[in-house]
Amino acid sequence: MAGFVRELERRAGPALRLEQRAAGGVGCVVWDAALVLAKFLETGACPLARRHVLELGAGTGAVGIMAATLGANVTVTDLEELQELLMVNIENNKHLVTGSVRAKVLKWGEDVTEFQPPPDYILMADCIYYEEGSARSAVWDVSGLDSSSLFLVSLGNSSPSLEPLLKTLKDLTGPDTCVLCCYEQRTVGKNPEIERKYFELLRRDFELETIPLDRHDEEYRSEDIHIVSIHRKQAVGPQNPRMLWVVGKGP
Ligand SMILES: C[S@@+](CC[C@H](N)C(=O)[O-])C[C@H]1O[C@@H](n2cnc3c(N)ncnc32)[C@H](O)[C@@H]1O
Repeated sequence: MAGFVRELERRAGPALRLEQRAAGGVGCVVWDAALVLAKFLETGACPLARRHVLELGAGTGAVGIMAATLGANVTVTDLEELQELLMVNIENNKHLVTGSVRAKVLKWGEDVTEFQPPPDYILMADCIYYEEGSARSAVWDVSGLDSSSLFLVSLGNSSPSLEPLLKTLKDLTGPDTCVLCCYEQRTVGKNPEIERKYFELLRRDFELETIPLDRHDEEYRSEDIHIVSIHRKQAVGPQNPRMLWVVGKGP
């Protein structure tokens, strides 16, 4: 299938070369939230060397592969149809990896036993969404798609996406797991509604802290792309002083 390469520059050496596909699902291209999160990892705000990292909805694998170049032991996960692209991108960038990286199928809502014990970090870029109808399995032409046109539809009773994602997060996280969720705030259609619903559900079990914009990469940042640091609510005892930055209120 036809591909086109997205280069993602790195502070410490040659750029990542990320193959994309002109036709395929939404995971076949690198989304802006992935660029922002990958470059945030490079700021060194989170220690990654030798840490166990899992990326959900990895798409091209941009974020997870960047983490692996920073010394993390990474599993990039997505649906079966993204595995070939993930493996191509792992192969293309393996000479830059100082930790390790492998690709695995993980469909949200399904059994996560093989990914235990809980990872140190879970990374998610642009995963708060749900395609209209049954578009997930359709083949889309995404070559002309810009990130603001990704359509998010309401949770409602028919949503097959957010609740499985929340279940997966609950099943995967331990008390010390840090989830870094990067998302683009979209204002059209039902997008604000689904974002609000997602964070409302998430807050039942997790504590959320927005990482201030001035902690993002100086170049790869945008007012409408947010990074939220998420931890499981602790049952008892004082909160762990995990965050080194001055945090804003969660979304
Ligand atoms: C908008 S894309 C983002 C891809 C990548 N993280 C990025 O930002 O470039 C959303 C990703 O979530 C994946 N995804 C959607 N539904 C999923 C599910 N039920 N289980 C696992 N992955 C899913 C898609 O295959 C796609 O790769």
